[in-house]
Amino acid sequence: MGGAKSATVTISPGVEMPTVAFGTFKLRGDACRDAVREALMVGFRAVDTASCYRNEDAVADALKSAPRNVCDETWITTKLAPDEMTSEEATNRAIDGMVARLGRAPDLLLVHWPGRSKAAPESDAHGEARKRTWRCMENALRNHKCRAIGTSNYEIAHMRELLSYCDVPPAVNQIEIHPAYPNTEVRAYCASLVPRVHTVGYSPLGVGELLDHPSVRAFADAIGLAPAPALIRWTLSNDCSVVVKSSSRAHTEENLTALSSTHTDDDTIAHHAAILERAFSSHHKKFCWDPRVVR
Ligand SMILES: NC(=O)c1ccc[n+]([C@@H]2O[C@H](COP(=O)([O-])OP(=O)(O)OC[C@H]3O[C@@H](n4cnc5c(N)ncnc54)[C@H](OP(=O)(O)O)[C@@H]3O)[C@@H](O)[C@H]2O)c1
Repeated sequence: MGGAKSATVTISPGVEMPTVAFGTFKLRGDACRDAVREALMVGFRAVDTASCYRNEDAVADALKSAPRNVCDETWITTKLAPDEMTSEEATNRAIDGMVARLGRAPDLLLVHWPGRSKAAPESDAHGEARKRTWRCMENALRNHKCRAIGTSNYEIAHMRELLSYCDVPPAVNQIEIHPAYPNTEVRAYCASLVPRVHTVGYSPLGVGELLDHPSVRAFADAIGLAPAPALIRWTLSNDCSVVVKSSSRAHTEENLTALSSTHTDDDTIAHHAAILERAFSSHHKKFCWDPRVVR
């Protein structure tokens, strides 16, 4: 456990990324635009979207209405969907579509899922699609259509395979992480690589379900934060970045307190984090889709 509570982290190829991003899954249209606006107002400087969220245009609208300096310094992550991995042409068209909808090149382009649409989980088509898609992403990086490229939901086998042929290794792997599903092996493997693949944790609050858990409440009390920022702090303290979503301004503002000082030193946080992890160790629970099924 480190004390990774800084507001930015340097990822490959030497790009500085905010460690806490605002998530937008299930936010659409005006609701998405307003939530992103609020997030920028309270201090978020990174937004996580995806082609399949169908809200990149709303994210762009929110950024356009922000002060120029806020717009310029805000990091955008977006992701290619499984149905955009079916051919080279489909992937290139999708990347150009993202740049058009966002009104600029995203900072970070991810492959959302280690498989293409319309193929059974055990099909060889996924590996072929991953390789073809990665080549398109490497070209997008060379052609300045993004500043960094990475993966999402890659298990160790998917990552090993990618490293066997890539010219540009992934800068990040965005995966589900929270105390109920710490995903320890995948993030330890990514951290061991040279260059390191930085882990970004999504659904840090277990889609909200972990907030009332007594062990989470005890951890939060022990480190002097409310439950949501305490869970975000838990992820940061594992040297991971984090993507968290809220449609409430009060919650969004509260979530950023994860980055403030808690009058609790890193060793004390590590001590209480270990107690929290032990409380979930015999009954891990995932809240999102499961990439372990994809060959
Ligand atoms: N790459 C992938 O495959 C993938 C998969 C899932 C998610 N993600 C990304 O990660 C983001 C975050 O994950 P998520 O949306 O699944 O779940 P999450 O951030 O773990 O939890 C969101 C839920 O927590 C509630 N919440 C947020 N802050 C709160 C606070 N301070 N107090 C009380 N409740 C609070 C929200 O309700 P309110 O709206 O009422 O605040 C919402 O119901 C997504 O939006 C998306 O951008 C990526």
